[in-house]
Amino acid sequence: MDLTNRPRRLRGDGVRGLVSETHLSPRDFIAPVFVDATTDERVPIESMPGHERVPIDEAVARVEEVLETGVEAVMLFGIPESKDERGSRAWAADGVVQEVTRRITDETDAYVITDVCLCEYTDHGHCGMLEDGAPEHCDQTVDNDATLPLIQNVATSHARAGADMVAPSGMMDGMVGAIRDALDDDGHTNVPVMSYAAKFESAFYGPFRDAADGAPSFGNRRHYQMDPANRREAMREVDLDVEQGADVLMVKPALPYLDIVSDVRQNYDHPVAAYNVSGEYAMLHAAAEKGWLDLDEVAHESLLSIKRAGADLILTYFAERIAEQL
Ligand code: PBG
Repeated sequence: MDLTNRPRRLRGDGVRGLVSETHLSPRDFIAPVFVDATTDERVPIESMPGHERVPIDEAVARVEEVLETGVEAVMLFGIPESKDERGSRAWAADGVVQEVTRRITDETDAYVITDVCLCEYTDHGHCGMLEDGAPEHCDQTVDNDATLPLIQNVATSHARAGADMVAPSGMMDGMVGAIRDALDDDGHTNVPVMSYAAKFESAFYGPFRDAADGAPSFGNRRHYQMDPANRREAMREVDLDVEQGADVLMVKPALPYLDIVSDVRQNYDHPVAAYNVSGEYAMLHAAAEKGWLDLDEVAHESLLSIKRAGADLILTYFAERIAEQL
């Protein structure tokens, strides 16, 4: 038995920090914030313990809470006061995200990223314009090309309100290029696009859809979001977004898709983001509530694993909690 090599030598208390390959910092995290134009008070989100929908007047205070933990970036999601077929409140100059973006950028130093999508704004809950007669034939419901001009409007309206970065999440073909063109034409050449490049049609989004009131009222999102079975296709998706000028490449969800995070890390030099989604958060909380897992330990280990797989930026509902412990 040759025991010349004993990896255990480097696992002792004094040395393990020196040889640790992965480090988390509050600056890696982006905290999602939900702003709800239909409420005057904070409403707890039941399936996402510790998170709330906050009214417009509380948005700045909410972001200040995030900043106090050392997290410097937020991702804004809006719940509009009304919805319609095209989601027109998504690009209104006085819309919920536009209004709070102005306030947050005026009053705080937070780096503001906005979610560019229509699903919280359409009365049918899909991420774009419906094709004619769609509810009858549910297979192809969203009209890709008719949706592009709408999300161009959303992105420019966010940039005009002062958004530091925009993050299109609708999985429309050509969305990154369309948004890049629209931003440039409107004078926002310095606003980066973080593309939800490989976004899978995942059951782990369940709690978010309650939180943001964005569940599709019929059908599902499988004809625009990716099939969880496909790893090679994710590289094609990312390739297209890179060609169209994406600045940051996101994979979503995170934990069940660490192979994809790792693939993107290896194949591209761009910053890689991973979205540790609502279901990943909810399941750890649920198990911790039962006393089956230690919440802080599993949350920390989850984020460390996402970073180890190759993510530079981590969107997570644990941002504040873990930042405070680092
Ligand atoms: C859609 C959007 C979704 C999430 C972020 N943006 C939901 C969806 O695609 O249905 C999910 C985030 C999460 O689960 O935490 N604009």
